[in-house]
Amino acid sequence: MAQKEIKTIGVLTSGGDAPGMNAAVRAIVRAGIAKGYRMMGIQRGYNGLLNGECYEMNLRSVSEIIHRGGTVLYTARCLEFKTKEGQQKGYEKCREMGIDALVVIGGDGSFMGARALANLGIPCIGIPGTIDNDIACTEYTIGYDTAMNTAVEMIDKLRDTTQSHDRCSVVEVMGHNAGYLALNVGIATGAMAVLLPEKEFDFQRDILDKMARTQFSGKKHFIIIVSEGVVPTQDLANAIQAATGVDTRATILGHVQRGGSPSLRDRVVASYMGYYAVDLLDRGIYNRVVALKGEKAVDYEVNEALAMKKTIDEYMLEVCNTISI
Ligand code: ADP
Ligand code: F6P
Repeated sequence: MAQKEIKTIGVLTSGGDAPGMNAAVRAIVRAGIAKGYRMMGIQRGYNGLLNGECYEMNLRSVSEIIHRGGTVLYTARCLEFKTKEGQQKGYEKCREMGIDALVVIGGDGSFMGARALANLGIPCIGIPGTIDNDIACTEYTIGYDTAMNTAVEMIDKLRDTTQSHDRCSVVEVMGHNAGYLALNVGIATGAMAVLLPEKEFDFQRDILDKMARTQFSGKKHFIIIVSEGVVPTQDLANAIQAATGVDTRATILGHVQRGGSPSLRDRVVASYMGYYAVDLLDRGIYNRVVALKGEKAVDYEVNEALAMKKTIDEYMLEVCNTISI
């Protein structure tokens, strides 16, 4: 599609919400209007696209949202959009609603949806928005900083009560299938052990032996971070109590990590990426995923972005394991 053929740009948020998504929507809408486009907000991700839940957004539609968590466009998961029929219907809905190009804020799954639309002829740009930071092409995803800070705030509170009772707290944090959030939170809260999906863990070596060593050096309370899905958190807490006699409690932080006012970092990155996405469309550069590389926005062709792989930083793992004693 030639550059001038884009008159209307749609924006949607998809997958799990993340703090900072609103700041991105605000930037996209205002950058689009500044560059002469008509801007349409699509509600509830691809579900809303298929249902035609769409409204025109003006400069004031995005007032008072930069500091708000969640997403004013709502979000959803949409199974139908994973089918060829659903994608075709999405394409037809774009045409029907006059949406010439789309900015999708979400994770890899959402980008697969965007790629399907791009293949059908709707130029798309993806913006990484997820608390998990699990998108390979980018060093940073919108929402990651806020979610980690929320987890740290909660675990600091847990530490007070854990320490007062000479207890062990096993805390489950989110992260989907990735341990980035857990590792950083583990370092920041001084956790004795951090269990990550990327690393096999051994109950005796990683928990019991380490606990014994720290007890020998005088420690009486313990924080253990478990990235969701590694091991059932309550089972692990029960096993620790049975094996050590240390009173142990399990806490699942859950969706509280997805909420709250976005941090400065999330607001700035979201604003930067939102503007950058519209700038790409305006320059006739389509079907890309925006990424952060050393604090600079860059972009990758969507197939290339989706084929990339990301690994846990072994050095940071060493930092975590060595000083958490
Ligand atoms: P995230 O975008 O955070 O990775 P999901 O994996 O749940 O979250 O994906 C969000 C939505 O993106 C899904 O509900 C679906 O509508 C769409 N989606 C996911 N995978 C695909 C796919 N392979 N093809 C088309 N759309 C997809
Ligand atoms: O991707 C964000 C995330 O919060 C993951 O950390 C978690 O695995 C998942 O979404 C939870 O999804 P839901 O909102 O469907 O419970």
